[in-house]
Amino acid sequence: MFGKKYNDFLKLVVYQVYPRSFKDTNSDGIGDLRGIIEKLDYLKELGINAIWICPCFKSPQVDNGYDISDYCDIQPELGNMDDIKELIEKAHKLGIKILMDLVANHTSSEHKWFKESKKSKDNPYSDYYYWFDEPQATYGSIWGGSAWEFCEERQQYYLHRYHTTMPDLNWTNPKVRKEIYDVVDFWSGLGVDGFRCDVITEISKDFSKNQMGMGPHIHEYINGLFGRPEAEHLFTVGECWVWSKEEYCKLTKEERKELSTMFQFEHILFGKKKGGYMPEPQSLTALRDILIRWQEVSYENDLLYPLFTDNHDQPSFISRVGDYKNKRYELATCIATMFYTLRGIPFLFQGQEFGTISPHYDSIDDFRDVSAINYYNYNKDELGEKTILEHLNFGSRDNARRPVAWDDSEFNGFSDVAPWIPLNSNYKEINLKKDRESKKSIFEFYKSLLKLRKENDEIIYGELKVLSQPEDGYWLFERELGDKKIVVCCNFENENKITLPYNSANLLITNNLERKDASCDYSAYEVAIYRI
Ligand code: NOJ
Repeated sequence: MFGKKYNDFLKLVVYQVYPRSFKDTNSDGIGDLRGIIEKLDYLKELGINAIWICPCFKSPQVDNGYDISDYCDIQPELGNMDDIKELIEKAHKLGIKILMDLVANHTSSEHKWFKESKKSKDNPYSDYYYWFDEPQATYGSIWGGSAWEFCEERQQYYLHRYHTTMPDLNWTNPKVRKEIYDVVDFWSGLGVDGFRCDVITEISKDFSKNQMGMGPHIHEYINGLFGRPEAEHLFTVGECWVWSKEEYCKLTKEERKELSTMFQFEHILFGKKKGGYMPEPQSLTALRDILIRWQEVSYENDLLYPLFTDNHDQPSFISRVGDYKNKRYELATCIATMFYTLRGIPFLFQGQEFGTISPHYDSIDDFRDVSAINYYNYNKDELGEKTILEHLNFGSRDNARRPVAWDDSEFNGFSDVAPWIPLNSNYKEINLKKDRESKKSIFEFYKSLLKLRKENDEIIYGELKVLSQPEDGYWLFERELGDKKIVVCCNFENENKITLPYNSANLLITNNLERKDASCDYSAYEVAIYRI
């Protein structure tokens, strides 16, 4: 049984905005906060009720904002404090909550704390970061190379799990913990409703062990941050690279007051090797199995499960799991149905709602992401240019960061000048305007699906009963609450005959424009939801 807080959170439908690539309103080629304000009515129409904004704080932008130099101010090219206040106010008026991105594991080396810290071994900020006389072998950098950088000024090494300009904060220092509490309270004081918490399970470290494990104080730190009376009401979703069910429960159980929920990446990483750059074909059957397993964990332990396929770090999901070249509409709507009719909190990433797929480029100059460029530089001698570009075209984070293609005009309705990163190479074929003009509109399907979810509590709160067998090439499941029941039918790659075990079933929604009833022939990726 959920408490009131989690019952309310289960009604959230979150839309993730990568501000630099969403909508530019001041003709500098970079998306901005006013661009989000401009699109609020569109987002309302889509049917979401919360927006997660990737970091928009002051930052040198080495990692597009995940390197923060001032947590309590806005990056000028994205806007200013008045803009964010206006955005919060206008969103709230429309019933849309605002979630900010809390980057608590590291700052930019341009942050005042680091600039002071590096001056000497003995100053008020000297213990804000991890300083050692020698690199600690257990901790390496996620983006290749060493995680330890020597600082001439202080004559010591500091830890940076990401870029050299992104030093890790020392959470063992109570002063650091208090600083981050203040950041949370600052934004919550301005009306922000919650946070997505960047690599939050990395904040506790144990240098005697391999970095992959969480440090010993992780629960204490997270509860210390969000279990405080000032922060308890906030919705928080952690980016947690944690695979164990036990830890998932500990980190997100309602009464423990740590996180509200956490992203679980098993369905995202399946089939991805070498840091996500090596493609391997995936089947919807394998995907279904993963989803069922995590639904079970969620039901057995009363956990909120985020239902997501895409984000700013991943290539487009539909580009990895099926025949997106020939059946993009069917595949995109099938995946949306598979995820958003389960119990959990839907998360959508910008552009997903009209079926954006990963683009293709022939030169490293078309990429911007610091980790992609690192990957290129570290591997180009061994793998050769051609192979690296293949990898980047498949797995680069830039895939998700191309400007949203609102239409097919010169700069895609994103801006009226050339954007900071080349446009999505597929924009002529795939853009919102064209999608909405089509009879097979992915946007319209998303809209109907989210409306159905909003109006039928059994999709939000109901029990899940799987009716199909593991070897079936389709997925049939019921969601039931009190005397209300729907059945969701998702056919996979092949044509199939699916007979429903009921005397009658009323069609609520389908991606087959020809379907009128529950007749049993299903084409590839066909989905239908019926009221029983
Ligand atoms: C995870 C974020 O999603 C990613 O974009 C970022 O580069 C790293 N954390 C470092 O903050």
